[in-house]
Amino acid sequence: AAPTRYEAETAPATCAGTIDSNHTGFSGSGFCNADNAIGAAAQFTVTASAAGTATLGIRYANGTTTARPADVLVNGTRATGASFDGTGAWTTWTTLTLTAPVNAGTNTIRLNPTTASGLANVDALDF
Ligand code: GCU
Ligand code: CA
Repeated sequence: AAPTRYEAETAPATCAGTIDSNHTGFSGSGFCNADNAIGAAAQFTVTASAAGTATLGIRYANGTTTARPADVLVNGTRATGASFDGTGAWTTWTTLTLTAPVNAGTNTIRLNPTTASGLANVDALDF
């Protein structure tokens, strides 16, 4: 089935920072600009039709030339890491595609930055 887009600015998603709209090209009404700190996370709550390996498309922008790595936690357990490389500008959004194991039904997907630079700006999760 086609993925569902979960916006970072729409509850029950959470953002350890501010919801901003100053860099164009985002979907919905804004994006998560998390604080520049280890552990300043963006979290999504998604619904899976079945248990198994799911595809996650994380739409983000990183206007710096330095990657902003994060752990990807599913229901609190680290599933994988993601680099969130520079995209060239804060207005240049790209989708990073990952896979992770999920349960049937409700799952939390948490992007937990592992460096003091914090997360890239996070627009949405396609799941
Ligand atoms: C700039 C930019 C923000 C970004 C921040 C950062 O302030 O405008 O959107 O989140 O840099 O480096 O994290
Ligand atoms: Ca930021």
